[in-house]
Amino acid sequence: MVSVPHASIALQAALNEVSTEIDRQFDKLLVVPADPRAGLYQAMRHAAIGGGKRLRPLLVFATARLFGVDRNVTARAATALECIHVYSLVHDDLPAMDDDDMRRGKPTVHKAFDEATAVLAGDCLHALAFEILASEATHADPFVRIELTGELARAAGPAGMAGGQMMDLEAEKTSFDLPTVTRLQAMKTGALISCAVEFGAILGRVPPEGRTGLRGYARDVGLAFQIADDILDAEGDEALAGKKLRKDGDAGKETFLTLLGLDRARAQARMLIEQAVSHLHAYGPEADLLRDIARFTLERDR
Ligand code: IPE
Ligand code: IPE
Ligand code: MG
Ligand code: MG
Ligand code: MG
Repeated sequence: MVSVPHASIALQAALNEVSTEIDRQFDKLLVVPADPRAGLYQAMRHAAIGGGKRLRPLLVFATARLFGVDRNVTARAATALECIHVYSLVHDDLPAMDDDDMRRGKPTVHKAFDEATAVLAGDCLHALAFEILASEATHADPFVRIELTGELARAAGPAGMAGGQMMDLEAEKTSFDLPTVTRLQAMKTGALISCAVEFGAILGRVPPEGRTGLRGYARDVGLAFQIADDILDAEGDEALAGKKLRKDGDAGKETFLTLLGLDRARAQARMLIEQAVSHLHAYGPEADLLRDIARFTLERDR
């Protein structure tokens, strides 16, 4: 269970509900076969089940519900997106990247299994995401399936998460300016967060010209979320975070914190949250969960 200080009752309930649903989806999808691939499936289950805040799935649910999208459809699309996020964490933790031993309060996949299995588990979660989206069980309309697939591919690839990860590696060696760090973070973390909101809009059949407010909201939440990750890296509690902290400073990585300092980084994140909420002006109380999520991205302790 994700326990969030200061979370509204509605947000706490939604986080718990979505976490349970995503675990249920992964449990159904990842049945361990009685053959030599058993370890691969166990590694995927280790990474995917029982942990994390499930923020991206929650954003899919919170957006889709503005438009009355079917719950099972939402759950499958949200699980596909979480597959990509989990794969990105498995690979991010590898010795070749951040070389981390703990993730979501458990040993990382390459520690619990081995490096080769962790690489393959990541590969398979990546593939599973697109298998889910291509399936008729996710959506009856092939045009919707294609739009979801293209959106996730863009968000995961060189113009999105993976490209941002590459820039992040460079940030340890080069000194980037603020616009470059902003672009890096918008790709590394923002792309999948934006994709979550976009998924809700796609499933809700909102035409692209009707998505401007939601896109502005997602962009600001994504940046604020990464500023909070950087602040938590510097100031957070490892036991609550479930991962090793003080990594960015030790690596000499350029982040919002090194560029702005703690006070200005926090002020910037607060400004982004207010701006995110203001992008939802066209929506009434049905968007309160999205407003609560925006505030949560900054107030969280993990
Ligand atoms: C961690 O993401 C990696 C970043 C993109 C900053 P989360 O903080 O959402 O990780 P989980 O899913 O809750 O473990
Ligand atoms: C990882 O960023 C982001 C992705 C996996 C795309 P970080 O390296 O800062 O994430 P943590 O702090 O290990 O969760
Ligand atoms: Mg990293
Ligand atoms: Mg890392
Ligand atoms: Mg971090």
